Amino acid sequence: MKIPDGVKEIMMANPNIGRYQLSKEAGISESDARFYAKLFKEQNGKTVIKRGIAIGDIHFPDHDEASIRIFFDFLKDFEPDYLLLTGDQMDMGCISGFNKAKPKLTEGKRLKREYRGFQRGILDPIMDISPDSKKYFFIGNHEYRTNRLIEQSPQYEGFIEVENNLDLESYTVVPFNECINLGEMYFIHGDYYNKYHSEKNVRVYGKHIFNWHCHTNQIFTMHSPINRLPRQGVSIGCMCNKNPDYKRNKPNNWVHQFMYFYMYGNGQFSYYTPIIVNNRVVINDKLYEA
Ligand SMILES: [Fe+2]
Repeated sequence: MKIPDGVKEIMMANPNIGRYQLSKEAGISESDARFYAKLFKEQNGKTVIKRGIAIGDIHFPDHDEASIRIFFDFLKDFEPDYLLLTGDQMDMGCISGFNKAKPKLTEGKRLKREYRGFQRGILDPIMDISPDSKKYFFIGNHEYRTNRLIEQSPQYEGFIEVENNLDLESYTVVPFNECINLGEMYFIHGDYYNKYHSEKNVRVYGKHIFNWHCHTNQIFTMHSPINRLPRQGVSIGCMCNKNPDYKRNKPNNWVHQFMYFYMYGNGQFSYYTPIIVNNRVVINDKLYEA
């Protein structure tokens, strides 16, 4: 199968062009643009750059709606090959051990309703916008609350876990505290919560590692020989309400943030971590606002 010369030229100049832009520039339909983009990737093998996007700490239903809308808008433009939900997608406050003896804090909250809301509000739109990306669903400490509940009350086993309540057929589920890699990038929800958690992660794992969990942005770069890829621990912010009930207006260092990356054929990468401030962010000269 041959890609028309004019279309190929456009993609050679910009291998990461999205299908909307390609259809506009080449004067072809969006479905043809998608087809040729896929073919171009296959024919160019290892030299082609893969795109990925990762968000975590959504804490649905205590999420930040504006940040999520911005994320969806960017996702439409970006068309990633990889999409990672890096843990604490759901808050699961109604089964939290911290709320056990405080019924007022869980008043009206139901796990079933939260699962339904998350499926409709987050997973379904992701599937609509990015049906073909390779997807990962990390179990964060908040999703792990279902396991803790089952440890206390084993009769719930099989009923309350995420796998039994969400449509995760297109996702690889990453167990709690497990790390995955894409090329030379490593990803973990995160467990360390100390002041220098990024340093701790890069030293413990010995890899270039991205973590969530702390809801803030922090980077620690290790020494490395000249011209080698620097090894960093990178902590990425959250997509949740920055003032949940239990914080009681206490100042914190949380930021609304996600990350996206380009991975080269040899596993090396470039990554970007836009921070959303007051419901807006500019990425690649485009204003995303909610
Ligand atoms: Fe979290």
